[in-house]
Amino acid sequence: MHTVADILVEWYERCGRSLPWRETRDPYRIWLSEVILQQTRVAQGMEYYLRFTQRFPTVASLAAAEEDEVLKLWQGLGYYSRARNLHAAAKQIRTEHGGIFPKTYEGVRSLRGVGDYTAAAVCAFAYDLPHAAVDGNFYRVLARLFDLTEPIDTGAGKKLFAALAQELLGDAQPSAYNQAMMDFGATLCTPTQPRCDECPLAERCAARAAGTVAERPVKQGRTHVRDRRFHYLHIVCGDRTVLHRRGAGDIWQGLYEFPLVETDAEAHELPQTDEFRHWVGDEWVLRGSVDLPKHQLSHQRIHATVHRIEVEAFAPAAEACAVPIARVDDYAVPRLLERYLLTK
Ligand code: ADE
Repeated sequence: MHTVADILVEWYERCGRSLPWRETRDPYRIWLSEVILQQTRVAQGMEYYLRFTQRFPTVASLAAAEEDEVLKLWQGLGYYSRARNLHAAAKQIRTEHGGIFPKTYEGVRSLRGVGDYTAAAVCAFAYDLPHAAVDGNFYRVLARLFDLTEPIDTGAGKKLFAALAQELLGDAQPSAYNQAMMDFGATLCTPTQPRCDECPLAERCAARAAGTVAERPVKQGRTHVRDRRFHYLHIVCGDRTVLHRRGAGDIWQGLYEFPLVETDAEAHELPQTDEFRHWVGDEWVLRGSVDLPKHQLSHQRIHATVHRIEVEAFAPAAEACAVPIARVDDYAVPRLLERYLLTK
């Protein structure tokens, strides 16, 4: 019986796309193509690939370039740190590898900006080293083929899929196996409307048999987003205000902010809690409250209000961290407070 890899490679030989980076075994060009293709689709990537290889035909010419020129050629692809890493890696090859592109997985993986996927892709395509370059195509194809419900966006899921991709490689030709999986995922086993009628693996596809193709792969999805309400106390006494340094165990560790009272997410009014009195004391005047724009973090949504409060004298807690208003700019503050301070 043919292995999955055999069937994919046989399909690829008949139906695979002809692409310029597949015509070469030059690791530099293959690496370049992979970095570009992480940023854009094949059709647009082609243009950039041709432009880059024309201007920088060798890794030495890229290393010798001015960063500005590299960024300019990259323009339009976005995520400029990729371009900076590309340039830095070329220089790294010049200084640390005598100008020769590394020939081992570890060597390639040690280059700036190169992760597991890119190192595996370069080693498989340029050197036929037995690595599976596991990207979104792999996840989708394997999740369907074996009807896997393991989420692909967790550490454990990624490990499982990587191990399976590696196992299926077997003794197939690494370059053909990886290219085949990329094309198979891009043209047949697509995210929506896969072309199962034309699929050479249809008879072995567990998700097809179970009718779950559209539900694979499974993603755990966004974890729950927590709403929090912050009441910042902008306490003013003469030419001084109060800044407090955030501690460990929460967001923004080590940054400075106005004294904070956190309440239920719904509450809007000035919270006259013990904590409030700790900072403000008993004699104070509220001069106004400003709702800040909602601030979205990866797992939290911060709804903040700044209450401007004037006092004749600081409470002891406030006195301990009072600073001249003119020096507030010297402190690192969270972005939402930075915006508020800019308007003051
Ligand atoms: N996407 C990422 N790498 C690719 C490659 N080598 N061929 C086609 N699509 C890709």
